Amino acid sequence: MKPRRIVLTIDGPGGAGKSTVARRLAERLGFAFLDSGAVYRAATWFVARLGLDWEDEAPILAALDDFHLRLEESRSGMKVFVNSIDVTVPIRLREVSNHVFHLARRPGVREKLVPLQRSFAEGRNIVAEGRDMGSVVFPDADLKVYLDASLEERARRRKKEHDARGEEVSLEVLQAEIQRRDHRDMMRTASPLSKPEGAFVLDATLLQVDQVLEILVQEAKRRKLV
Ligand code: DC
Repeated sequence: MKPRRIVLTIDGPGGAGKSTVARRLAERLGFAFLDSGAVYRAATWFVARLGLDWEDEAPILAALDDFHLRLEESRSGMKVFVNSIDVTVPIRLREVSNHVFHLARRPGVREKLVPLQRSFAEGRNIVAEGRDMGSVVFPDADLKVYLDASLEERARRRKKEHDARGEEVSLEVLQAEIQRRDHRDMMRTASPLSKPEGAFVLDATLLQVDQVLEILVQEAKRRKLV
């Protein structure tokens, strides 16, 4: 009999620290790591380059037939390739962040991108992070975490990331952009951001990454998953 694979999901709003926590948790447990936001970002980067009308769904869906995604694990995180072009860095630009909702809100787009996420996870133990990992993509996950933090703290964390890349933006602008994206992620009808049923809810506003990690490892142990 094949050993059962273990799936841990971490959902929550942008900037709560999901990526860092999920990557470090995966490293610690020896699991694969899936950053599903990168899949939506890569598709957005791809469509943006074609200059299509964001409001016109049919050409977007047709274009995605030529979207070939490769996700590679590396020490610094997940490397993302679209049609063999390394887009790991450009997909993090605000220009991309602020357009993802044009794709993420469309059920037709999600129908194309969800199988890519499931196939990446096939046959291996995985930590998957995003918005709908526990609710839609991996509904049978063994541990579903919902990681939250205050808007102010999330904006501060995102600012640090932008500063490190030399992308100048004020805290106020970032806060407003994050708030707008939260609203769109929660209000859309297609796989909105929500707490999955039975989720282990953790507010990380006052916690360091190491502390969050420790709490999640303990919870996984308590459930005899690791
Ligand atoms: O986690 P992130 O900031 O990289 O995600 C970028 C966008 O992708 C976010 O605004 C919502 C969308 N997204 C989604 O719709 N579903 C997911 N599972 C992950 C991200």
